[in-house]
Amino acid sequence: MNGQPTVSKDFIWTLPKAELHLHLEGTLEPEMMMALAKRNHVPISYPDVDAIRKAYVFTDLQSFLDVYYAGCSVLVTERDFYELTAAYLERAVSQGVCHVEVFFDPQSHTARGIPFETVITGIHRALIDYETSRGVTSRLILSFLRHLSEAEAIATLKTAQPFLEWIAAVGLDSSEAGNPPSKFARVYDQARNEGLLTVAHAGEEGPPEYIWEALDILHASRIDHGVRCLEDERLVDRLVTESIPLTVCPLSNAKLHVFSSLAESNLPALLQKGLRVTINSDDPAYFGGYVADNLLAVAQACSLSCEQIVGLVRNSFLSSFLSETEKARHLADIERIAQNTPECF
Ligand code: ADE
Ligand code: ZN
Repeated sequence: MNGQPTVSKDFIWTLPKAELHLHLEGTLEPEMMMALAKRNHVPISYPDVDAIRKAYVFTDLQSFLDVYYAGCSVLVTERDFYELTAAYLERAVSQGVCHVEVFFDPQSHTARGIPFETVITGIHRALIDYETSRGVTSRLILSFLRHLSEAEAIATLKTAQPFLEWIAAVGLDSSEAGNPPSKFARVYDQARNEGLLTVAHAGEEGPPEYIWEALDILHASRIDHGVRCLEDERLVDRLVTESIPLTVCPLSNAKLHVFSSLAESNLPALLQKGLRVTINSDDPAYFGGYVADNLLAVAQACSLSCEQIVGLVRNSFLSSFLSETEKARHLADIERIAQNTPECF
């Protein structure tokens, strides 16, 4: 294939996919936000669902985060966190996602007086229910808010102690500029000592140095976003040599003006360098699409070939925390579907 836009929506939806960069709080659709605001008697600054959607115009990461944290205020009870997670899983399954590794931001809830236990119990219960009923497997990633102090992150990890068997990894999100990974060296050391894996957002708005720090100081096994790596040739070599996955989020990058448009995304260049790229939805309720929507949008905007799409979904499993046996099973399913789609090859 030579980069012709021949990839059909059907093909993208049918391929088995893993999603590795998804903030559960970022799946709060306007309809659910309105319903929960009413149910929990939480005032919000929008009269209706249309007004919420209209407000989703962002200039950069911070302008989005201000709206995102305000949205979190409607999440109060264990049932709310269950329903939020269940609604996401329902949509993910409908787009052919069969494995998810999802972030939650406990500090945006505990700061409002919501117990950590309420948050994680609701999320965990939904993850288990959907594995049982729909076969979607999952891992949960506790994400620290990097605009807060490391001491607060350490306190959060301590609060999480009784629930560590439900948590696979820690992550780092929120305002990147001015909050380097090195600020969280000790809490990441503690997390690794507890047996947790580590990932970190880096190189979304922040410089390539933050990606180096995420690798060398936090020992991140994946970089969330990482798109600014192309500014540093030596870093690209390191990422390629060590097959470090980048969890790229095209609709997010376009909405937050990391790139001026989807067509201006550096995804083709990342692929050309041989980086292990995966495609993800980040905060789909705010950015206008779930994981298959992201794949289709970027396939069209960047004229990706079928081989490139298949490579991206292969990478999603290769970059996951699944066992080698589980990865092999999903990869075999992908090969079977790809072989049966002759118009693509
Ligand atoms: N929290 C939710 N979405 C985020 C993103 N794209 N970057 C940093 N923090 C986030
Ligand atoms: Zn993110």
